[in-house]
Amino acid sequence: MAEQLFDKVRAMITAIQSAAPANAEELEQFRIRYLGSKNELKPLMGEIRNIVNERKKEFGQLVNEAKQAAEAKLEELRAQLDGSAVAVAATELDLSAPGEPLVLGSRHPIAATMNRIVGIFERIGFVVAEGPEIEDDWHNFTALNTPEDHPARDMQDTYYLKGYEPGAGAQLLRTHTSSVQARTMKSTPPPIRIIAPGRVYRNETISARSHAQFHQVEGLYIDEKVSFADMQQTLFYFAREMYGANTRIRLRPSYFPFTEPSAEMDVSCFICNAEGCNICKYTGWVEILGCGMVDPNVLEECGIDSEKYTGFAFGMGIERQAMMLYNITDIRLMFENDVRFLKQFNSVI
Ligand code: PHE
Repeated sequence: MAEQLFDKVRAMITAIQSAAPANAEELEQFRIRYLGSKNELKPLMGEIRNIVNERKKEFGQLVNEAKQAAEAKLEELRAQLDGSAVAVAATELDLSAPGEPLVLGSRHPIAATMNRIVGIFERIGFVVAEGPEIEDDWHNFTALNTPEDHPARDMQDTYYLKGYEPGAGAQLLRTHTSSVQARTMKSTPPPIRIIAPGRVYRNETISARSHAQFHQVEGLYIDEKVSFADMQQTLFYFAREMYGANTRIRLRPSYFPFTEPSAEMDVSCFICNAEGCNICKYTGWVEILGCGMVDPNVLEECGIDSEKYTGFAFGMGIERQAMMLYNITDIRLMFENDVRFLKQFNSVI
């Protein structure tokens, strides 16, 4: 009886030592069989109670030997299998094959222009602010001194959300980034120095020169004793950074409901050096933005003391500047996202 049990263990040791699993799956079966939680050695160990006392120690050692043999074999087989996997991979690897070309994306000309503008203002302490594209009537119009019966509302053909009529409480697609001014003034006490890039919408006929969606960058600066001269210098700095050190600016009186006085700013044409070309329509000047001193009504409506604080604001379109910078002749190209168009801006970061 005892001798049979000893033989069983010896047979198992032989089986373990000669095991030759062909793949990882068979190796795992080997592990489960001899070293898993329900391995075949366990019941044999249980048989120790049928062994005469004098031989119990010898039997225990033999079973232990079987376990060690299984562990050593597992180690050895694992190393072998790993080695052969690497060998297989190496024969399939063709080091002389040409590499897969990396296709790099490119910055969209609108994003590139916008980043450049934002960067110029960030360097003098403006911080980026954002607001929603779906806006309410108050932030887009009322807070900006544009009450319901104000004729200026006719200046901008607005997309209203389904179910809304023009008027208080209406939800709409913002017609300008000036709505971010109202949001910031409401939420942040002065001093305020923000730059707000974003997409805006107007119900306009789509053509080579205008689109129903476009982008603007808005600026707002509010503090004590901010003057019109501060605005001029800030915008002059911007114009030179954007269009070159020799750029001149020209402010023409204009009208916006939310600024007083208001102006439009032209820069000297950087394409022809102000000598006259078809971009500046032979005037030497290109209009790029609207600006002005924030109307005290706007400050008060947004909860800012207009006796203590003054400020200036400006807003500029991105597409027209991008079209001039990159010589793009049709605004619609910017929204079609044809890769043949987009990949031309590979060098633009
Ligand atoms: N919001 C104006 C527009 O869309 C631009 C502007 C912004 C003018 C800020 C003055 C001050 O045309």
